[in-house]
Formats: sequence, structure tokens, C-alpha cells
Amino acid sequence: MKSDLSRMRRPLLNWYRRNARDLPWRRTRDPWAIWVSEIMLQQTRVETALPYYLKFMKQFPTVTTLARAREDDVLAAWAGLGYYRRARQLQAAAREVVREHAGRVPRDPDAFGALAGVGPYTKAAVQSIAFGAPFAVLDGNVARVLCRLRALRLSVRTPSGAKTLQKLADALVPMRNAGDWNQAMMELGATVCLPRAPRCDECPLRRSCRALALGRLEEFPPVAARRSVVRVRRAVVLIESRGRVLVAQRKGAHLDGLWEPPGVELRGRTSVRAQLDAALRKLGIHAKLEPTGEIVKHTITHHAIEVEVWRGKIRRKLISLQARYESRVSPRVALTALGQRLMLRRRALP
Ligand code: ADE
Repeated sequence: MKSDLSRMRRPLLNWYRRNARDLPWRRTRDPWAIWVSEIMLQQTRVETALPYYLKFMKQFPTVTTLARAREDDVLAAWAGLGYYRRARQLQAAAREVVREHAGRVPRDPDAFGALAGVGPYTKAAVQSIAFGAPFAVLDGNVARVLCRLRALRLSVRTPSGAKTLQKLADALVPMRNAGDWNQAMMELGATVCLPRAPRCDECPLRRSCRALALGRLEEFPPVAARRSVVRVRRAVVLIESRGRVLVAQRKGAHLDGLWEPPGVELRGRTSVRAQLDAALRKLGIHAKLEPTGEIVKHTITHHAIEVEVWRGKIRRKLISLQARYESRVSPRVALTALGQRLMLRRRALP
């Protein structure tokens, strides 16, 4: 085991030092900057996260600035990245840090791990990268690397698979340089040990890799059954006033609190017009509705949404606390990704 480890550590760390992408969160030891990056990089690719990260850090350079911000501003900075719970929880955690830790990100792993939204992944990543603590990170990329190294047919999505893989990751993480080691494992999974067509000839661990020795790389890890796509039908209304468009806040699990043109998820056989009308009335909006015939297709994770676009004219003066007119190009509230698309549609421009 020991010789196996020493055969892996140096080549992987050397490879990482030569090949690590130059990313802003790798140029700092500021735990806040590293924490923000690790939250953004969960469920989001590096290339996508990068511009959001730069903007977010400019706007909220310290724990305290985020703690003191209005939630709307935080969500607006996150708008487009999805999984908005991450932003809300990060702000809740920042407020805890200000209240209970004098605004300093806790160096104590248990205290850090107890903050809102900090699970085992975030704890291990931030504690190792910012403070050098020897915690092993396990994410999808690392799991794939480990499964191949040891030719294990395990899925990190099952509790028992995750447990075994975490133990293996824990056994490999070095006492020193844990942050580099973790980032090297993630980087290897993201750039070399790819799900399909891995680049084994570039891999610093090829001599230790059992799956490669067996010539059966792509069997590990087992391919997860694709989550089946759920089709959703929705109708939305574009109501304009002096070049601005009416938006309302979404309610419900995922997009709660974000804004988009008002609408409704279509169900049953009631007419679209009646369902839209009822949804608008709940928001205090009475409008004359007219279909445009246009359908916008939008996908979020495993939902394929077909959106019927309607146009509306306000019947009475609008008195609604739950809806507001916003500029198409520089709205002051956080829009959903669908909301952004609908607002920016060419056809709707005057
Ligand atoms: N994915 C999430 N965090 C990462 C990091 N610090 N380095 C490489 N990939 C990552």
C-alpha cells in the first residue's frame, strides 16, 4: 500500500503543478475567495462559473459584504448560474460567520462544517485548499479517477458507493499538500480521466491504474442510468409598458424568489387562457390575453419545458405588490434563466 501511495503522490502533484489551469481562486489563500469558488463549482463547470465568480468577488469581496447585502442583490449576482439555494445558503452562512466568528472564516473544521450549506465536500475542499487540513475531497470527477485506479464498479451516487470511495480518498490524501492533492485529483478527472475517451497517455497515474492495466477503462465507474426527462408545459404572458416588461416572483422549490414574466405550469384540460387568467388574478393582475403562437423551449437539469408565449394588455391600472415592470436589458431583480431569455427575445422588441 505504502509503495503504491508513493508511486502516485509525486507524479500527480508534479503533473498538477505543471498543468493546473490558472484560475483566480488558485492565486489566493483567502478562505472566503476559495469558499465562494467551491460553492459555485458545485454543479457548474469552471468555464461557466468564471465570469460569475469574478463579478461576485468584486461585489462581495469579504464575508461581511455578503452578510450585509440585500438578498435580491445576491440573487441578481447569481442569476443565470442556477441552483439558487447555493447563493441563499452562502449568504446565511456569511451571516453566521459575522455573528459567531467575528467575520473570519472558521479554521476549525467542525465550526466550518456546521455552517449553512457546508456539506462534506465544501468542508474538505475549503479546509484543505485554504488551510492545508488533510481532508479528502470526493466529487464526481474524483470518484471516477478512484474507480479506475482500483477497478471498482462503484457509484458515488449510492450511499454505500460514496462511503467506500470516501474511505479510499481519505487513505490517499497526504498530510501535507492536501489542497493541491485534492485539486490535482479534481483537475485530473476534469481534463484527463474523462468519462469517455480518457487521455491515458497523458495521465501521471497510468502506472498505478488497474482499469488501464485490464484494458477496460470505460467499464469504471458503471454508467449511471440517465435520469429520465420530465416534460413540462408552461404559459407565460409578456405585458409591456413603455419598453419595460412585467415580471413576478416565482414560488416553489427551485426558483423561489427569482423573477420572470408571470405564467403558470399547464395542467389538465382547462384552457390555457383560463389557467393563465387564474394565475394572473392571484397576482392581482387583470389583463386581456392573446396567444402569440410562439413556443419557447427551455431545459433545466432534467426538465424539458415548452413555454407558450402570450401577450397581455392590462385592463385596469395595475396595483400588484407581487409584480413589477423591469427593463429588458438591465433589470434590477434576479431573473430566472427562462426569464432572461423571454425578456431578450428579438421578436418582443418594440
Ligand atoms: N472543481 C471544484 N473545485 C475545483 C478545484 N478547486 N479545482 C479543480 N476542479 C474543481
